Parts: sequence; C-alpha cells; structure tokens
Amino acid sequence: MRVLVTGATGFVGGHLVPALLEAGHKVVAMVRDPSEYDPPSGVEVREGDVLDSNLKLPPADAAYYLIHSMGADGDFSELDRRAARNFVEAVDAAGIGRIIYLGGLGDDDADLSEHLRSRREVEQLLGEGEAALTALRAAIVIGDGSASFTVIRQLTERLPVMVTPSWVRTDCQPIYIDDVIAYLVGVLEAPATAGRTFEIGGPEVLTYQDILVRTAKLHVGRRPLILPVPVLTPGLSARWLGLVTDVPVGVAKPLVNGLKNRVVVTDDSITDYVDVELTAFEEAVRRSLEDGTARRRERSPA
Ligand SMILES: NC(=O)c1ccc[n+]([C@@H]2O[C@H](COP(=O)([O-])OP(=O)(O)OC[C@H]3O[C@@H](n4cnc5c(N)ncnc54)[C@H](OP(=O)(O)O)[C@@H]3O)[C@@H](O)[C@H]2O)c1
Repeated sequence: MRVLVTGATGFVGGHLVPALLEAGHKVVAMVRDPSEYDPPSGVEVREGDVLDSNLKLPPADAAYYLIHSMGADGDFSELDRRAARNFVEAVDAAGIGRIIYLGGLGDDDADLSEHLRSRREVEQLLGEGEAALTALRAAIVIGDGSASFTVIRQLTERLPVMVTPSWVRTDCQPIYIDDVIAYLVGVLEAPATAGRTFEIGGPEVLTYQDILVRTAKLHVGRRPLILPVPVLTPGLSARWLGLVTDVPVGVAKPLVNGLKNRVVVTDDSITDYVDVELTAFEEAVRRSLEDGTARRRERSPA
C-alpha cells in the first residue's frame, strides 16, 4: 500500500517509517521542514504543516496521524483542534480512505487532564470526515526518544530522593515502542479495523512508583527513595520536572497533569485482529536504555 506518515520526524513516526518499508509498503513522509529530515532510502518526502488551512496531501491508501502541539507556542488544545480539522479536510480532498491515529488511554467518564481530553477530541475530529478512522489509545510508550520515557530516565539518573505528588500511586500500562509499531502496521493490514477504536498496552499494569523504581534499578543500580506528598500542585511539579529533566516545561506540564488519570486497557479486542507478542516492561526499559547509550555514543564518539 501507499501510505502517508505525518510526524515522521517524531518519536513514533520515526520508528514507523522503517517498519512500513520493511513490511513492503510505499511511504510518503509529510514533514514541516524537509531540510531537517533524513529519510530512509525509498521514502518520498512532502512538505506540509497541519496548521496550514490550505494543506494539500498526495494520494495514498491510508494516512497516519502522529502529531501533537504540546510544547508549541499557544494553547495546545486549540492548535490540535485546528490541526485535526485541517488534516481531515485535506485527507478527504486527496481521496485517502483511511486514517490511523495514536492517541491516549483513559476513561472517557473520568476527569481527564487537558492533554488527554485534547487527544480524545483529536480522535473524535479525525473520525468526522469521509475516511474511516482507526484509533489506537496508549499510555506511556517506552523507548529512547519518547518524551515521557525521557522524564522517567532522567529522574532516576538525577534524583536519588524524589518528593512527588500522590500521582505516583496511579496505575499505568506502559507499552514498548516496537509493540506500538507492530499494532500500527498491523491495523493497516487488517481492513476490519477501519472505523474502530482500540486500546493497546504492555503486559503489566504498574504504578508510576513501580515504573520509577524498576527503571532506576536497571539504569543506575539503586532504588530511589520516593516520598509522595499531597500538597505538590501539578504546576509546581511540572516546573520541578522541567528543572531536573531536559523535557521542556511546555511538554512536561500537560504530561504531568495527565498522571492523575488511570491509564490501563479495559478492552483488549485489538487481539482479535493483530497478534503482537508483548515485551515485558523491564526488557523494554533495558532495550530503550541501550538504544539511548548507543545514540549518545554515535553523536559524540570518545
Ligand atoms: N510518546 C508517548 O509516550 C505517547 C504515548 C501515547 C500516545 N502517543 C501519541 O503518539 C503520537 C506521536 O507522539 P510522539 O511521542 O511521536 O511525539 P513527538 O516525538 O513529539 O513528535 C511529534 C511530531 O509532530 C510533528 N508536528 C507537530 N506539529 C506539527 C504541525 N503543525 N504540522 C506537521 N507536523 C507537526 C513534529 O514535527 P516537527 O519535527 O516539525 O516538530 C513531530 O514529528 C501523538 O498522537 C501522541 O499523542 C505518544
């Protein structure tokens, strides 16, 4: 199939493009700045910004939407609303029959954070055009380059003692990037998934405290002391994360605000369509840490 990938310069899109090529598909990568994108061989590159109301897309059998506006100047929910509307219009104008989107887990009835509500709104908007939407919903994706995993890794590196809000006790179902990619490619190849929403998650439900402790043991070989306190506001903890990690506050803040929401799979019907052998959490962390070390070594060889 000929498939369009947006967000090709990002964490998820960057892993998806080679996997689609490997599976025998033709890939058109849509990026904002082609001079900043080094595509794998065989990829056709098109320039495009989903905030452009005149966005034009090339013909394709399906289009992946792997974009968010966290960290951009302005109200990310409003930007993401505009972006999703422009994209749906452009998809319909190009006659693309399917959209595949990766959004966030979380119960619709829960008091979702602004970030998770916005991800859900994008999902709804992407489903309003002619194209059949397949939406996958995931919690934290474990992998080198994932903003949420970077926060976890750097906290464990830099803080032997962590004073955290009570969200450390919230349940989460992290999933390894390779497994996310297997689902994203799998739904493309399973036409019955068109027009449907699925939840995806790794094999274990863990609290954020478990995630921090297990990552610390693998990464720095010691268990951090975690002291949950009820008074640390999300704004304060986002600023604190911004100081301790390299993730910009504009990205850390919406992510931190989402930590109050339980993000676990409640419906595993994806398994009827796509068979993925899920990676255990600690194996996922081990591989992601190795990838990060290799990447940093490549950038600055000794
Ligand atoms: N990472 C996770 O843990 C996680 C978990 C659950 C769901 N997801 C979902 O996965 C999807 C991808 O996330 P990610 O982690 O890969 O994010 P990311 O690494 O921050 O990448 C975001 C991508 O969006 C592109 N982008 C932003 N604004 C754009 C615009 N106006 N026009 C065109 N492209 C634009 C960026 O391109 P530039 O290079 O030009 O900035 C970048 O390629 C999102 O829908 C996210 O909600 C991620």
